[in-house]
Amino acid sequence: MEKTFVMLKPGVLQRRIAGEVLNRFERKGLRIAALKMLRMSREMVEAHYAEHRGRDFYEKLVEYTLSGPVIAMVMEGEEAITVVRHLTGPTNLLDAPAGTIRGDYAARTRLNIVHASDSPASAEREIALFFRPEEFCPWEDGNRDWF
Ligand code: CMP
Repeated sequence: MEKTFVMLKPGVLQRRIAGEVLNRFERKGLRIAALKMLRMSREMVEAHYAEHRGRDFYEKLVEYTLSGPVIAMVMEGEEAITVVRHLTGPTNLLDAPAGTIRGDYAARTRLNIVHASDSPASAEREIALFFRPEEFCPWEDGNRDWF
């Protein structure tokens, strides 16, 4: 099973939509392998968005990411990186169709409420930046007769 990193940006908690957004991933059948809420340090934000340093939106992006706690998650599933990117929709606001998370919830590209790894290399790097191995909680699909 492939793992990918997902971050619900500060706007998600601020807008009280954490449950709704998380539901999109769960409803699809992805498994939550690790999850936590944290306030990122500036150093961590700069490391996470290092590839965007120097872009015109960079400072504002850092500022937004520091504006409140984020919810960091590792999602697991078949082809999880691609599946999650399909659920989030494209980065550019004008390209994100209705039905995707960004298409449904984001009115500004910079404030696009969710980040998801775009490749196996970034998934590995981002997961390692946010989670220590002992923060993963393995679990089985037992007790299915409950629902
Ligand atoms: P994310 O997937 O977190 O990765 C980088 C972030 O930079 C992106 O989401 C947006 O929040 C932001 N971003 C990328 N491109 C632009 C842009 N053209 N204008 C403003 N913000 C952008």
